Amino acid sequence: LNYLVTKDRKTIVDTLVSGLARLEYRGYDSAGVSVDGDTTEEVLIYKQVGKVAALKKLISEQKCDFGKEFVSHCGMAHTRWATHGEPSPTNSHPHRSDPNNEFTVVHNGIITNYKELKTVLENKGYRFESETDTEAVAKLAKYLYDSQKDNQTLSFTALVKGVIKELEGAFALIFKSIHFPNEIVATRRGSPLLVGVKTEKKLKVDFVDVEFGAEEKVPAPANLLAPPSAEGHPKLRRSQSRAFLSEDGLPQPIEFFLASDPSAIVEHTKRVLYLEDDDIAHISDGELHIHRLRRDDGMPSVRSIQTLEIELAEIMKGRFDHFMQKEIYEQPESVVNTMRGRVNFESHKVTLGGLKAYLATIRRCRRIVFCACGTSYHSCVATRAIFEELTEIPVSVELASDFLDRKTPIFRDDVCVFVSQSGETADTILALRYCLERGALCLGITNTVGSTISRETHCGVHINAGPEIGVASTKAYTSQFIALVMMAIQLSEDRSSMTQRRNDIIDELYKLSDHIKAVLNSDKELQQLAKEVLYKEKSLLIMGRGFQNATCLEGALKIKEVSYMHSEGILAGELKHGPLALIDENMPVILIMTKDSLYPKVQSALQQVTARKGQPIIICNDDDDGISKQYKTIRIPQTVDCLQGLLTIIPLQLLSYHLAVLHGVDVDFPRNLAKSVTVE
Ligand code: G6P
Repeated sequence: LNYLVTKDRKTIVDTLVSGLARLEYRGYDSAGVSVDGDTTEEVLIYKQVGKVAALKKLISEQKCDFGKEFVSHCGMAHTRWATHGEPSPTNSHPHRSDPNNEFTVVHNGIITNYKELKTVLENKGYRFESETDTEAVAKLAKYLYDSQKDNQTLSFTALVKGVIKELEGAFALIFKSIHFPNEIVATRRGSPLLVGVKTEKKLKVDFVDVEFGAEEKVPAPANLLAPPSAEGHPKLRRSQSRAFLSEDGLPQPIEFFLASDPSAIVEHTKRVLYLEDDDIAHISDGELHIHRLRRDDGMPSVRSIQTLEIELAEIMKGRFDHFMQKEIYEQPESVVNTMRGRVNFESHKVTLGGLKAYLATIRRCRRIVFCACGTSYHSCVATRAIFEELTEIPVSVELASDFLDRKTPIFRDDVCVFVSQSGETADTILALRYCLERGALCLGITNTVGSTISRETHCGVHINAGPEIGVASTKAYTSQFIALVMMAIQLSEDRSSMTQRRNDIIDELYKLSDHIKAVLNSDKELQQLAKEVLYKEKSLLIMGRGFQNATCLEGALKIKEVSYMHSEGILAGELKHGPLALIDENMPVILIMTKDSLYPKVQSALQQVTARKGQPIIICNDDDDGISKQYKTIRIPQTVDCLQGLLTIIPLQLLSYHLAVLHGVDVDFPRNLAKSVTVE
């Protein structure tokens, strides 16, 4: 929004679109913008699938007057990574409340109760045009506005407060409306959002006071989902503080930028203010006011305006040197995103909306076939045992290429689960089509809404891990693992004998994010281990058994992929049938020895290795004091056996990353490999 700065429509659109281009590194599948029309009654929206360049082209073909000038103007733009509904112009943001574009909204996050909101709004006559969760937010804004429009004191901020009181999930939202021209309201809960401030002169103050709302109330519009609150929505007092006067006390030309990440705005300003959860920022008349959703909630009452020290290239990867590293570090959040709205930790219930209609069929099937490639295959190996234990349905795990080579017999009463981060891996797609032809029920587990696998399967689960850019898959693995565990839990909910087991797993899923953070804290030691012990070696064996077999395979794959060092995952039970011949005092070995029912058997593997002068590095639980001091250990928190692999993999991801850096490998793009292998 610019104030006392005259700009033409072309400059405004170019600023918005180039901001989107700065966010391209995050991965996206479609983009859109909305800007003011020629009158205050009109808002223009342009949306396109594909790259920002495609959106730019679409806009340049419009017949509107690009020379039209604005002294004050609010525009918004968005790149979308599909979570609900495939990539299409209609599903792209901005979303609108109605064909007149009375309210336009962009959103980053997931509204988990959008289905309920949508049903209520549809019953009130609203027609939805997209499959997204966000559209419900735009329609809700209009619904609340229409039910309040005779209320002369209704402010844009109060309206947005009313909207977000109804929302569950995670969001950073920006609202624009023809009813509040030249005003913008932005708010967040769970998803990041910042405000950039660009002025010509030095600011008089470098903070903004938070307004907690005065006593005056705006009556609550008919409450949609929750029982009506007696308190209503407090009317917001208009603050007199003009935080953006220049030092000489005069109003000055000013522009505000809202973004989920500073890379979008840093070329315009480095002065930014980070919003907190449930902050509601209102910008108009050259002023920024920050309100709180609820009064007296203990939040600090000022938001300081900081000066960013970092440059654009650094911001894109945050504080990280590579996307792989960033994605490893994102896991405390990405695992939560996979479970969001699906796992109820109080009632110990899992609800995967995408499988609902097929649960009975799946429970009746004679076997389940997991089919995937690479890391996705390992997530299947990791969860097979708990799947079989909870559902008592036999599970086979197949590498897609081998499954096809063998022309594996598949029947109508089989259920086939295709796991793929990209949803575009050629071998997995061919295996899917093979199973569809044979009449099996086919499920997809992917990270990519609208991908071939999510379109061609009967039903499935999106893992919602967010875009993964590094070729070596890390956060997608842990999210696929969780998606499969959630599926097993839901399928077994009719088995009362499994209640305790399910509850234990759900309790541990709740702690997972913190456990991952704890493992990430040992990064420095792992870096040292890579440098001082492993870096010069030619080979590395990773051993374990039971639930840790998958970690051995996936850990070895990570090391091969990004450090080009030979590495092999070995099932410890097979040691004496061959691999033991490799062991001597020079062969580097990592042994995974976490506390589960197989612990004594892994202890005997340790003895077998030590007896041949091997000196394994042991991945073990924090509190395991039974391990002799002669061994180097990597310690991780203990969790329930079937989830332990979500933690044992993290040190191996970090180790492979550090080995790759030490070897000077282009970590995010290792030689000869592709993120998505679309050829057989
Ligand atoms: C490629 C990637 C791997 C990935 C595998 C399967 O080999 O380099 O990281 O695990 O494909 O990909 P998908 O998208 O099907 O999970």
